[in-house]
Amino acid sequence: MTIATFVTHIYRTSHVSVFTRVRYFSIAVILLVLATTVVRGEQVLLGDPALTAGVPGNGPISVPQIETWLDDEHNFTELTPVLPLGLSQGSSQITGLDENPLTRAKIELGRQLYFDPRLSVDSTVSCASCHDPSMGYTAQTKTGVGIKGQAGGRNSPVSFNRILSDKQFWDGRAGSLEEQAVGPIANPIEMGFTHEGVVKRLASMPVYAKQFETIFGSVTIDAVGKAIAAFERVLVTAPSPYDYNEQWRAFKDLEPEDLEDDPELAELYAEAAAGVKSHPMSDSAKRGRDLFFTEKGNCTACHVGANLADEKYHNIGVGMDHETPDAGRHAVTKDTVDTGAFKTPTVRNVALTAPYMHDGSMDTLEEVVEWYNKGGHPSRHLSSKIRPLNLTDQEQADLVEFMRACTGPTPPVETSRLPADA
Ligand code: HEC
Ligand code: HEC
Repeated sequence: MTIATFVTHIYRTSHVSVFTRVRYFSIAVILLVLATTVVRGEQVLLGDPALTAGVPGNGPISVPQIETWLDDEHNFTELTPVLPLGLSQGSSQITGLDENPLTRAKIELGRQLYFDPRLSVDSTVSCASCHDPSMGYTAQTKTGVGIKGQAGGRNSPVSFNRILSDKQFWDGRAGSLEEQAVGPIANPIEMGFTHEGVVKRLASMPVYAKQFETIFGSVTIDAVGKAIAAFERVLVTAPSPYDYNEQWRAFKDLEPEDLEDDPELAELYAEAAAGVKSHPMSDSAKRGRDLFFTEKGNCTACHVGANLADEKYHNIGVGMDHETPDAGRHAVTKDTVDTGAFKTPTVRNVALTAPYMHDGSMDTLEEVVEWYNKGGHPSRHLSSKIRPLNLTDQEQADLVEFMRACTGPTPPVETSRLPADA
């Protein structure tokens, strides 16, 4: 009998007293929780360097190395991701794991694919060309630059913290990370290949072929998307000074006597105190935080939640003075209110990812704040949340300082170990 039929059975059995029903129901709930824990295998804290360290060894990955790796059962345990401090409040936002369970083997295959230029037609461009870990997982170009130096129409967004994001692209046209991941491969100005072409090429390389066969049954474009998405889901930002400061805010008003009889609370208090001590936020950043989160700056009208992004689309006026402005979200929904609306980007690690906005039109965070301060650019579909802020120069500087304090390290990732050609 499954747990669900057991519960239904209890409910349908009318002679059982209410008390017994409640008791059985509680037992069923406990069983259900246990069952999910068992199915979900092992918990891992995202950011763990071991997840992105690559197959052990040096030089190109060889067939014997990959065979040893694939023989290790540990690499096939289903992983339940645990988000680091700060992002953890967004745990309920995680999607896609039921359709594409995380395992170390899948994450590692995705890592190889992400850094491999052989996924582009002329083997010159990889995902990392435009989402480079050493550049905050973006590229420092105004718009993405693909094969033969061709420039695209939009700025490269970050490819981290995607585990907290459902729809992808500035206009949200990809319904999942899996769907997004295979787009650039066949985009003529990005990687310029075809899905058939890339599948054939991967199948011709024994190290890739073995991994796809073992993990997915065969090489398919669908499997390529799943592996890359699995890798992207473990790329998260570790706590920033902002996160330590938030953790501390919950404790700072406690009195010593509050901690006396509560060793657990005392331990949490000590942890929070140590966090702000080792990752301090300047006074300017603290003032910026208050502007960001209150009516005055109004940034959290959109940059909200664990990833400081509401996963919604807004027209803030950027690029709307062009002769033919980018339609943004409108191209997907055909709804007039979505004209010129783009997905709110995260403010996490934003200090590392200039230039800014969907068109890469702003070079500095100072420029961005100035934009908001003047109320954006007049546009017929400008969001009602955008209005002149009347901030002083100091307040504008404080907002920039706050955003700089939202910088936390991303995990170290092996970028050069890729499968041997043959
Ligand atoms: C030539 C540069 C370029 C290459 C190569 C490239 N991307 Fe992108 N990527 C972009 C640009 C530009 C966008 C935004 C496009 C848009 O929104 O229309 C983007 C969007 C994304 C997004 C959506 C992020 C969000 O916030 O919605 C993800 C994830 C992503 N790329 C991952 C990848 C992966 C994985 C690969 C390799 C398979 C890849 N990219 C290859 C430039 C590139
Ligand atoms: C109405 C919603 C909204 C409000 C309010 C808002 N933002 Fe934004 N923010 C967005 C959207 C949408 C974009 C991308 C717009 C585009 O590219 O056209 C963006 C872009 C940004 C960027 C560029 C990020 C990148 O990676 O390119 C920064 C930085 C930023 N906002 C900071 C702020 C600050 C600081 C405030 C408060 C003063 C604020 N935002 C208020 C929605 C909003």
